[in-house]
Amino acid sequence: MSEQQVNAVLGIDIGGTGIKGAPVNVLTGELLAERHRIETPQPATPEAVGKVVKELVDHFKWTGPVGCTFPAIVHNGQTLSAANVDQSWVNAPAQEILAKACGLPLILLNDADAAGLAEVTFGAAKGKKGKIIVITLGTGIGSALIVDGKLITNTEFGHLIFPQDTIAEKYCSAKVKEDADMKWKEYNPRLNAYLKHLQLLFSPDLIIIGGGISKKADKFIPEMEGLRFPLVAAELKNEAGIVGAALEAAALCQS
Ligand code: BGC
Repeated sequence: MSEQQVNAVLGIDIGGTGIKGAPVNVLTGELLAERHRIETPQPATPEAVGKVVKELVDHFKWTGPVGCTFPAIVHNGQTLSAANVDQSWVNAPAQEILAKACGLPLILLNDADAAGLAEVTFGAAKGKKGKIIVITLGTGIGSALIVDGKLITNTEFGHLIFPQDTIAEKYCSAKVKEDADMKWKEYNPRLNAYLKHLQLLFSPDLIIIGGGISKKADKFIPEMEGLRFPLVAAELKNEAGIVGAALEAAALCQS
C-alpha cells in the first residue's frame, strides 16, 4: 500500500437531514476528494441508513477503514439514545450494523465527540491544555469534553436540565432559534445563560462553539457577558464530523 492509502480513512457524518462523507488524510485533516452528500432517508431506520453508508463507500470506491459519526450516545458500538433520530436506534448494535452494510471495518462515535477530536487535532483546541468544552449548536446540542488533550466521550451537555423543566437543547439549539424565527437579540440571552450554567458546573478554560451556527459567530460571541473563559468559534466548520470520524477510525485501526 502507498503511504497515502495508509493515512487515508473515509469519514462519514450521519445527521438528521444529510449523510456526508469524504476520504480524509488523517495526518493533515485535508479532504482527499470532494465531499459527497446524500439526503438522510426518512424514516432513518438502521437498514435505510446502512444503505446510504454503502452508497457513500461505493461512490468513493472505498476499500479501507471507515469512521462514522452518529447524533446519539455511542457506547461500545451501541447507540443508546435517539433524541432526534428514529427510535429504532435505541440499544441497536449500530457499529456492527453499519460495518456489515458496507462490508468494511467501521468505527462509530458520537457526532460532537468527532467534532471535538477534529478541533483538538487540527482546530481551535490544538495544543491547548486544561478543560475544553466543544458545544455544537444544530438540531440538538452536542458536546465534547477535552481534558489536557484527551477526549472524554458521551458527555451529552445538551441534555442538562436547563433552564428548568426542560433540557438545554430544547431551549437554545440552532433549531429552536430557527423554528421560532428568533432574532439574535432574543436568542443570545438564552445562549449566554446556558454558557454561564456550563461555567458554573465545569469552570472550563475554553469553550468552542461548532455546528452550522458557528459561521455566524460574529452575531453572538461578542454579545456574551459574564464569562470567565475565552469563547471561540470552531475552526473546522462543516467538515469537523467527517475529519473527527476518520481520526477515530485511524487511531483504532492502528492500535
Ligand atoms: C444527542 C447527542 C448529539 C447532539 C447533536 C443530541 O440530541 O443526544 O448525542 O451529539 O444531539 O447531534
